[in-house]
Amino acid sequence: MESTIARGLRNVVLDTTQSSFIDGEAGVLLYRGYSIHDLAQRSNFEEVCYLLLYGALPTRTQLDDLRRRLVSQRSLPGEVMQVIRLVKNTRPVDVLRTAVSALAAFDPDVDDNSREANLRKAERLTAQFPTIVAAHHRVHNGLDPVAPRDDLGHAANFLYMLEGREPSAEAVAAMDLDFLLHAEHGSNASAFAARVTASTLSDMHSAIVSAIGTLKGPLHGGAAEAVRRMTAEIGEPSRADAYIQQKLADHERIMGFGHAVYRVEDPRARHMREKSRALGQKLGHPEWYQILQQVEKDMAPYQARGIYVNVDFYAGSVYALLGISDDLAIPIFAIGRIPGWCTEILEQYENNMLIRPLLKYVGPKDLRYVPIEER
Ligand code: CMC
Repeated sequence: MESTIARGLRNVVLDTTQSSFIDGEAGVLLYRGYSIHDLAQRSNFEEVCYLLLYGALPTRTQLDDLRRRLVSQRSLPGEVMQVIRLVKNTRPVDVLRTAVSALAAFDPDVDDNSREANLRKAERLTAQFPTIVAAHHRVHNGLDPVAPRDDLGHAANFLYMLEGREPSAEAVAAMDLDFLLHAEHGSNASAFAARVTASTLSDMHSAIVSAIGTLKGPLHGGAAEAVRRMTAEIGEPSRADAYIQQKLADHERIMGFGHAVYRVEDPRARHMREKSRALGQKLGHPEWYQILQQVEKDMAPYQARGIYVNVDFYAGSVYALLGISDDLAIPIFAIGRIPGWCTEILEQYENNMLIRPLLKYVGPKDLRYVPIEER
């Protein structure tokens, strides 16, 4: 039977979902039916975690309870801190992947694949991710890790653990928005990888390890770091035009542009663009935003091919303005995405079918085995 090949599984609908809706032609993104724009302007990361994991916006009591549970589970087992110290000179995203694998050994629910246990694991991982990233960052830089602070929210506590001092309200708002915008995005490569692992009825930690390994690549979670490098290389707005024209002439991709699903602007991008502009102005560093604006102008001809800015185009500049080192961009994406990954994994378990696509064999079929002495 002649089968059609869907390279990259583009336009293949894998299954049904209730966690997010994406209309790539219209530039629409909904988390469980709520517009990303409404959520970006009016909600916060913890509320979105509840929405994704439990399927509805929380009441005040439900949100307070979730916040308390997250706060109480931020610390890492001493053994996992030891692992982080052992691999401290590896890239932060690799340390995160290794630490999640190590965490499984100490998770009280590791062998329980029930929905209740998986929700507990999802909350625990959401609470632990920022601690792993911040602890590694400090140890790598010869500093002592900073213990989490119970009176700070998720974003504020992350920045506090990174820097060892209480962050400004602007920094907290920017970090919270960034986490919220990255929280869920359908069957993206890392969520798909998590689903494939979960579909074998493997455990949640294993599925998250798959997801982190997949997020790491420059075509997925690595784009913000690459855009930041590009912005630093450009240096000033007047140089952007020549730089981009040269890259395009060399057939290089411009990071932070294009998307596998969106054919118009990524709806998340406008919120990061505005954050980048406002933070740059407030902190007296408008040059990041100006360079990125110029790059956007240079890439305008590509809009006719459906290539627009994506969420990560302005994200790197926001991290730079917050004083966050560039190798933390992927782990920060992961801190935002963990509730989405867990939601996708929960959905996969609830209606599981082993994910097992086919490959069309195009190699020879009539070769005769030749003994090694005769080759
Ligand atoms: N710069 C220049 N050309 C591009 C770009 C870009 N950023 N993206 C796509 N193209 C061109 C590509 O060269 C190809 O041209 P041609 O047909 O002449 O060979 C054409 O557009 C189609 O490319 P594709 O890779 O088949 O298209 P895709 O829809 O699979 O691409 C993508 C999606 C994200 C892999 C790609 O746009 C890309 O590499 N972008 C840069 C990396 C990036 O910013 N990634 C972050 C994505 S958003 C965050 C996330 O969720 O991961």
